[in-house]
Amino acid sequence: MQRGQFTSKFGFIMAAAGAAVGLGNVWGFPTQVASNGGGAFVLIYLFLSFCLAYPALMAELIVGRYARANAVIALPMLTKKPWLKNAGKAVGIAGLLTVAVILSFYAIIAGWLFSFSLAPIVKVTGAIDTSLWLTDFSLSRNITFTVIFMLATIMIISAGVSNGIERWSKRMMPALVAILVLLICYMFTLPGAMTGLKHYLVPDFSLVFETNIIISAMGQAFFSLSLGVGCMLIYGSYLSSKENIVTVGIWVTVIDVGLAFLAGLLIIPAMYVAAHYGVEIFDAKGDLKDSDVLIFTVLPALFEQMGAMGQVVSLAFFALMSLAALTSTISLLEVPVAYVVESYQVPRKKASWIIGALITLMSLTIVFNFEWLFGLVIMITTQYSQPVLGLFFCVFAGWVWHRDQALSEIKKGDEHASSSLFWKIWPWYVRYVCPLFIIIMFVHALTN
Ligand code: PFF
Repeated sequence: MQRGQFTSKFGFIMAAAGAAVGLGNVWGFPTQVASNGGGAFVLIYLFLSFCLAYPALMAELIVGRYARANAVIALPMLTKKPWLKNAGKAVGIAGLLTVAVILSFYAIIAGWLFSFSLAPIVKVTGAIDTSLWLTDFSLSRNITFTVIFMLATIMIISAGVSNGIERWSKRMMPALVAILVLLICYMFTLPGAMTGLKHYLVPDFSLVFETNIIISAMGQAFFSLSLGVGCMLIYGSYLSSKENIVTVGIWVTVIDVGLAFLAGLLIIPAMYVAAHYGVEIFDAKGDLKDSDVLIFTVLPALFEQMGAMGQVVSLAFFALMSLAALTSTISLLEVPVAYVVESYQVPRKKASWIIGALITLMSLTIVFNFEWLFGLVIMITTQYSQPVLGLFFCVFAGWVWHRDQALSEIKKGDEHASSSLFWKIWPWYVRYVCPLFIIIMFVHALTN
């Protein structure tokens, strides 16, 4: 069977950045900034993204392109020892399961965002009841929109790598940046925005060494770059050998971090604008409100205050969130689909629909047991599975794989790779520094 491949460097960067940029950026990052001390969190996040997450991303991209296969096949290829081959397979499969669970909760949130983006349009037509249904938390609304979002994801993935993922990412990513920049410009004209900007950009240096904040920033960086679950590995496997994989990886990181930064630039000032309009933005403890409350209560209240213009802004804002989510849900679904296609020779269309249907069932199980299951699966996958698996990916790239093979893979797209700064640092970095950092994060998560 002919393996899919991205047709251009731009296409690859848009697709991989699209996989990385998602709810983690436009929702997770700003809300974490809000609850973790503003500017200090931003500073630590920037540092960790480049100094920890980027090297780990490179491990996945390089291994993926070398193996030209999904993680379950790729990791065992790095060694000749049977027990390590089995370990690699186990890590790959654990990644698949994690991805399936991430997608099942991700699709629910994405569905909310999509329903919120339709609300202003429906409101204009005068169907007030329907528009209320779209923004109220109800079983019927949650089921409907989770299923719609999963269907959209399945349709793109069943179209394949260049026709599906690449084509749609190339359209959606620039649209995302455009909407974001327009919204930021508009928000800055409103009263209160500058106070928010200050909270966002001026770090309180006394918080910079707070362990809790460092741990949260590290988890955020891993989630945001889609690490530890074989997602970037499979994208790497579709990258042409001609490309300089080191610079491509930098681009993906810069875009991912840049979009998180831009999203913060919109949302933190927006909260203070909301406060100016009389919306309550602080919780009982005096901290900024976070997560769902921020996106689904504070911001809509702000848009409501802004009259007719508020409806337009609301539409743009939630459409933006939905787009960001869609480029990530397709990357999540691609991981198990690629596995089934490659390992069992199932046609892509069939694999997409079967796996998509199974994950939709998982999503609906969460929807029906929302109270206790939703938070639990988020915690298990993002706080535990992703860091632990990320650790194993680094161990495989740094300890199990032979250095020379990694080098010759990088050299395919850059003949001077052996004398580059990247090659002077990365091999020992991914061997010692990344695993150590992740272990610290994990131990900390367990003890708290
Ligand atoms: N990076 C995505 C985000 O920031 O929303 C989430 C994600 C996508 C995590 C794909 C893991 C993954 F495999």
